[in-house]
Amino acid sequence: MPRKILVTSALPYANGSIHLGHLVEYIQTDIWVRFQKMQGHSVHYVCADDTHGTPIMLRAEKEGITPEQLIDRVHAEHSADFADFLVEFDNYYSTNSEENRVLASGIYQALQAAGKIASKTIEQYFDPVKNMFLPDRFIKGECPKCHAKDQYGDSCEVCGATYNPTELINPFSAVSGAVPVRKETEHFFFKLSECGEFLQNWTRSGSLQNEAANKVGEWFESGLSDWDISRDAPYFGFEIPDAPGKYFYVWLDAPIGYMASFKNLCGKAGLDFDEYWKQDSTTELYHFIGKDILYFHALFWPATLEYSGYRKPTQVFAHGFLTVNGEKMSKSRGTFINARSYLEHVKNPEYLRYYYAAKINGTMEDIDLNLEDFVARVNSDLVGKYVNIASRTAGFISKNFAGKLGEASASDIEKNSAAKAETIRNSYEARDFGRALREIMALADVANQYIADKKPWSLAKEEGKEEELHIVCSTALRLFRDLTLYLKPVLPELAKQVEAFLNIEALIWDDVNVNLASGHTINAYQHLLTRVEPKQIEAMVEANKESLQPIPQAHSEQRHAQHQQNEAKAEIVTEEPAYISIDDFAKVDLRIAKIVNAEHVEGAEKLLKLTLDIGEEKPRQVFAGIKSAYDPATLVGRLTVMVANLAPRKMKFGLSEGMVLAASDERGGPFILAPDAGAQPGMRVK
Ligand code: MSP
Ligand code: ZN
Repeated sequence: MPRKILVTSALPYANGSIHLGHLVEYIQTDIWVRFQKMQGHSVHYVCADDTHGTPIMLRAEKEGITPEQLIDRVHAEHSADFADFLVEFDNYYSTNSEENRVLASGIYQALQAAGKIASKTIEQYFDPVKNMFLPDRFIKGECPKCHAKDQYGDSCEVCGATYNPTELINPFSAVSGAVPVRKETEHFFFKLSECGEFLQNWTRSGSLQNEAANKVGEWFESGLSDWDISRDAPYFGFEIPDAPGKYFYVWLDAPIGYMASFKNLCGKAGLDFDEYWKQDSTTELYHFIGKDILYFHALFWPATLEYSGYRKPTQVFAHGFLTVNGEKMSKSRGTFINARSYLEHVKNPEYLRYYYAAKINGTMEDIDLNLEDFVARVNSDLVGKYVNIASRTAGFISKNFAGKLGEASASDIEKNSAAKAETIRNSYEARDFGRALREIMALADVANQYIADKKPWSLAKEEGKEEELHIVCSTALRLFRDLTLYLKPVLPELAKQVEAFLNIEALIWDDVNVNLASGHTINAYQHLLTRVEPKQIEAMVEANKESLQPIPQAHSEQRHAQHQQNEAKAEIVTEEPAYISIDDFAKVDLRIAKIVNAEHVEGAEKLLKLTLDIGEEKPRQVFAGIKSAYDPATLVGRLTVMVANLAPRKMKFGLSEGMVLAASDERGGPFILAPDAGAQPGMRVK
């Protein structure tokens, strides 16, 4: 019986670009969806942009456009990014849609009727200049615990403390810089504290991975508090019915966006919305999410559905975070890589799909993209093992046998390959793609060994070995067909090319039971895959490097605790107005530096290697991205300004022990800064 399955990925915020971290989720979901579709199930994969909230409103304002203009532009960008990574949604919609407004209002009214909404007057920080209430993340000040300056209103990045914004010392608005005042306002709350029994049962009913259920267990122990679901104008979102000037908090209508996207699809595809969402639905519903938004999907969301009369998710699948080279993605290291930038440099999205799949195992562990390993793995597995099978054998079939396949091999090699189908299937089903790929690559090893043993290139030269050559190459290509089928959820484009080459219909999972018949004609083999070059990766990392150290970002682990105000997460990708105190500025050790040597760096597109005298015993070596504008010979002897206490950075070309200051924008540059006459190497710049 085909299953009826509705699958979602979390809705990306509409104020930032898709990056390689996001793609861990969308690629993972897409592989699972494609796998289920290949099984013959009826699967609908929906997603949307998450468009509401303060960060998006402020971002649009900063760009001088309306929020609607911003979210339209981002929708087009996101859609293109996903399409180019072969993430194939059945619908990619927006939370700022009429369907979502109607559903969100209806759910809110149902919760009200069920007695689950309370109203309370609370006191909140208000920006008297901007005339708006401030989300925690838009208030900054001194940490009440460790007294670090310039910390966010919900947590300290220095000591890790979490607190209320009202506890901050010397708070200021990150929007206007004004001192915020405390002001009373009426808010609506969803009484999560009354949902404990339902949630205890639901979260223990197999809907969560064990690690997720354990995490939720900790939250039960610390007690469930009511959830603040309203915000005051100005706010970009849906106005709450019968409450003028009050808006749904973005996280109220965001998951409802899953329903709205599906509802929109129903209109287009003639599906029955209620069949999928009614209380006693027999269809399956799966949400793929990152571990940072577990609280919303394991507690708020099922409770919202339960008390508004809808079905609950069958399962929530949480995954870990992406690290690059073992560390958090970093703009200064060039490892905060946008989806688009990967495509520009590496070109082929299936390399990343393959690499991620090899690392994904269905748990909440973090996933590391090691860039060296990425190159090695893609080249050795895909080019060296998989494609090699066809490239070493197909030519003989075309040349010697007019493209027609021969008999099956007398050995059990083909049967053994088909016998693995069930293990591979189960691994995909359990989202242990790593295991699936290990099994598949073991089969590729067997096939390559077979070819190495039989040596078709020698058989082709020997008299009377024609039939054996035919069998060997046909067998290799049948194994290649199996591997293609097994890899198809991960490598859909490549599979399509192979289907054309093998002259077969689109592969489905049932095809494991039948292989290419003797006498079947294949097409001429054409080059399938190019190796990735380390140079491409280096160029990508270089292009993503920001010369200035970024403002530290809230760590995902910390955000874990801050589920109430998680909206703020959106603003991680916004450049917010960053006021720094005089103390912050004093931390930067700026010095007059004399350029005692300047030279080209072999293999670097943008960098010059500078040797700088700053009055210290040992001169500093600094790599500066100024090659486009300066002939190194003309720099020697000049004075400039450098940051002397920037943490040393290991670069491909050597250690960089600081940074020289240079101006640039679209009008030109870089122009290095130079002091007036009289300045001496080593002088402090204040
Ligand atoms: N808008 C919310 C989700 C609302 S769902 C009703 C959100 N958006 S997000 O853009 O920040 O993240 C979208 C998804 O990508 C989330 O599941 C998040 O966990 C995931 N990831 C974002 N950065 C990630 C990594 N660095 N690594 C792995 N997944 C990451 O949260
Ligand atoms: Zn602190």
